[in-house]
Amino acid sequence: MTAPMAPGQSTRLMIPDQMIAPMAPEHLPEVMAIDAQCYPIPWSQEAYELELSRPDDRLYLVSRPHGVVGHAGVAFEKDEAHVTTMTVAPAYRGRGIGTHLFLALAVAARRRNSSLALEVAADNPAAQALYRRFGLAPVGIHRGYYADMGLSPDAVVMRADNINQPDYASRLAKIAVELDSA
Ligand SMILES: CC(C)(COP(=O)(O)OP(=O)(O)OC[C@H]1O[C@@H](n2cnc3c(N)ncnc32)[C@H](O)[C@@H]1OP(=O)(O)O)[C@@H](O)C(=O)NCCC(=O)NCCS
Repeated sequence: MTAPMAPGQSTRLMIPDQMIAPMAPEHLPEVMAIDAQCYPIPWSQEAYELELSRPDDRLYLVSRPHGVVGHAGVAFEKDEAHVTTMTVAPAYRGRGIGTHLFLALAVAARRRNSSLALEVAADNPAAQALYRRFGLAPVGIHRGYYADMGLSPDAVVMRADNINQPDYASRLAKIAVELDSA
């Protein structure tokens, strides 16, 4: 059990180490097996290897309570932290794993950037609900963003600003406490 935190306190200790770990090359077979269940055109091994070769401006995580069951990634860009992928194996959804992964990304993002942004399919209410919990709000539509990926073609752009401020740390701490007591 992790202890509740005061508002504004660092959320570093709130991430359960046994559950979330940095993605490593040996995780890729499991990561890609999950993607194959979820995406018509999944990322290639080369694409993951390229991302993993950039530890200075990328962070990829896996959730592995019993083997890898989910993964997520973020690119630390000049103006914002941009979520690149976020996936939980279908059999493990609805158990808080996606929220744990996103919490870890958000904690890392607020150390590097003041904004957090992503694209999400317009017809994906589960993911959009998760992101809203983390303070991301729709700021636009990318028409045809996923047209080549076999998904709903339009993407909603969602964004949270001022994530480096104490208010956002309080939001993350609250989510962490809720996860811990779920
Ligand atoms: C989006 C995704 C990562 C969420 O992972 P998850 O482990 O199921 O997430 P959580 O269990 O932490 O649930 C987070 C929220 O998602 C929503 N949600 C989860 N499962 C859901 C379901 N079966 N139906 C509807 N909403 C659901 C709920 O709002 C939930 O909040 P709650 O805990 O208050 O009910 C997962 O559904 C997924 O991998 N989807 C396919 C890939 C994808 O669309 N990725 C997003 C790309 S932008």
